[in-house]
Amino acid sequence: MRLDKILAQSGLGSRSEVRQFIRSGQITINGLTVRDPGYSEENLEQQTICLAGNPVLYHRHKHLMMNKPAGLITAHQDNRHETIMSLVPEIWINRGISPVGRLDRDTTGLLLLTTDGVLNHRLTSPRWEIWKTYQIVFSGEPLQECDVTRFKTGLTLSPAEQFRPARLTIIDNQSAELSIKEGKFHQVKRMFRAINRTVIQLHRIRIGPLKLDDSLEEGQIRELDDSEISALYEQVQLTGQD
Ligand code: URA
Repeated sequence: MRLDKILAQSGLGSRSEVRQFIRSGQITINGLTVRDPGYSEENLEQQTICLAGNPVLYHRHKHLMMNKPAGLITAHQDNRHETIMSLVPEIWINRGISPVGRLDRDTTGLLLLTTDGVLNHRLTSPRWEIWKTYQIVFSGEPLQECDVTRFKTGLTLSPAEQFRPARLTIIDNQSAELSIKEGKFHQVKRMFRAINRTVIQLHRIRIGPLKLDDSLEEGQIRELDDSEISALYEQVQLTGQD
């Protein structure tokens, strides 16, 4: 792959910005300055490439976690409401980053975004049964052990609609944690409605092996670290090199 493409894919800037870095002599490969943006050699991305002496970490794909605030739609564009993309730096939008699944406008918490379409598809496909965990504040009668059992055996809404087994943990009279391994429309809210409770607050804290970083304030975003990325790829039997 060409040097300018590797640098742009690593998030250093647009193609024209990284070409400037290269032409101005700020880029070294294994300690030697290279001034040709089109420079290419086998496995170039595995060499030690530095910008002004600092190593550039090459990631073909980008993965971000957001602590989604309430009020934003999980979509690229919306005619009426602000979307989560308003929080994403343009450099990642230009690289084609997309949310993995959806959170409702009033739902907060862990939202994963990735440029890897295969990873995205597997993490959202019911076939891969990725557990997602939500913290819930609800109104109505306190939950009972029989509700836990109903969720565990798989709640039936109608002959045509059945939810897969889910793990419900009662926290107190008004709050609970629920893990589900599918992502149907308004699923948690509909499951609670089916047992005569109303979800008042919904906050996602986990997707498979990925935990929401407690230090992320609402509206903040960070890149996943290498161990988080490997755990996600492993979960859906991808290597990240596919
Ligand atoms: N279930 C819901 O009802 N809403 C969400 O945002 C996510 C899961």
